[in-house]
Amino acid sequence: MKIAIAGTGYVGLVTGVCLAEVGHDNVVCVDIDENKVELMKSGKSPIYEADLEELMKKNYSIGRIDYTVDYQSAYKDAEIIMIAVGTPERKDGSANLDYIKKVAKQIASSITKDTLVVIKSTVPIGTNQDIEKYIRKNLKNNVKVEVASNPEFLSQGTAVKDTLNASRIVIGVESLWAQEMLEKVYKPFNQPIVATNRNSAEMIKYASNDFLALKISFMNDIANLCEIVGANIEDVALGMSYDERIGSKFLKAGIGYGGSCFPKDTKALHWLSTHNGYELKTIKAAIEVNECQKLRLVRKASRLVESFEGMKVAVLGLTFKPGTDDLREAPSITNIEYLVDRGANVIAYDPVGIENTKKIFKENIKYTTSIDEAIKDAEACFIMTEWKEIINYDVINYKEKMKKALIFDGRNCYKIEDMKNLGIEYYSIGR
Ligand code: UDX
Repeated sequence: MKIAIAGTGYVGLVTGVCLAEVGHDNVVCVDIDENKVELMKSGKSPIYEADLEELMKKNYSIGRIDYTVDYQSAYKDAEIIMIAVGTPERKDGSANLDYIKKVAKQIASSITKDTLVVIKSTVPIGTNQDIEKYIRKNLKNNVKVEVASNPEFLSQGTAVKDTLNASRIVIGVESLWAQEMLEKVYKPFNQPIVATNRNSAEMIKYASNDFLALKISFMNDIANLCEIVGANIEDVALGMSYDERIGSKFLKAGIGYGGSCFPKDTKALHWLSTHNGYELKTIKAAIEVNECQKLRLVRKASRLVESFEGMKVAVLGLTFKPGTDDLREAPSITNIEYLVDRGANVIAYDPVGIENTKKIFKENIKYTTSIDEAIKDAEACFIMTEWKEIINYDVINYKEKMKKALIFDGRNCYKIEDMKNLGIEYYSIGR
């Protein structure tokens, strides 16, 4: 079975490599960027993702996967074409489908045999149907084409593991033919398959992501109240987690969620609801809580320090979560902007995110991959990502190296008692 995949971002590349890994022997990943294609052919991954390069090298060397910019040759005789290009946020919060439409056009002009087009990108409800109509209308050759929805649930940092051990495969189809094709694709994974119609599959993706975002915002809201009433959010979360109806995951309060999905998908679903004459009040609240949460610590700090002007401030952790070099919608960005605007001399630490941070802040801040260097003579320190390097850092250093041991921890990396015993002024979330 020839499977072509459009787009080699997190979803496209990881899906392609994992399909090859489970035994599909004719997978071709298409990208418009020639340099990226060459890089991938040489066994290098354009994204920082655990286990990915190893599987890329292995499956490329045994010929199960290839990479190309030549979409025509990739699509023309493919049985399945998966679309995994980005659906970025427009200014009004809606999803921008330009990349999807571009690929749809290329498919319509290239295919020469019956093809199942599978949309893996997160798309607004109704998109699969629209894209099917669009492809059929623009078809160059007289072949059968159907579009199926197959949303992706992988997380960055654990993308390969998540794909090879997915909790479920969701397929949204309108015919038995499409369902059987997708069941064949996913058979080697041996994972539960939820088959439904396309609109429901599209909604499952948004509802899942938005529910998780809501869960985090709920915990952040409760954490803020905990601070006021003298409760401890970690104990509260632990106490809640024993209830199977609540579950133990995504209960961690912090500095707000970031990344390429939750911020975008909450806004997109909220936009979609209002656009359809119904407002999702829960999702609106999740978005609002998250916006406030991101600035919670800098706002607290500005009530404590007279001015940030000329102050050396360390920011530890820049990526939106550990295990990735991605800074999209990372709380660190909002925080650094706030500090720089107020005249702080920011020095930013991250084990892998420096290159991407430089693209945003250029020469406006300093960068380091050493925590020691970041905190040396600093008068305040903000923790934005719970990298193990930060969690395992010997906290005595804050006392010894900083000019003033004042720490604002957005990820609750340390025990309050330890900091108190060392005489470090320490503020965290919900404790
Ligand atoms: C998410 C979904 O988990 C995944 O299923 C979907 O396919 C894409 O979006 P991802 O964005 O890679 O994945 O990361 P995730 O681990 O979900 O974290 C997102 C954000 O939420 C991070 O900023 C993280 O720090 C934050 N988070 C997560 C919390 O603040 N608390 C938690 O308990 C969990």
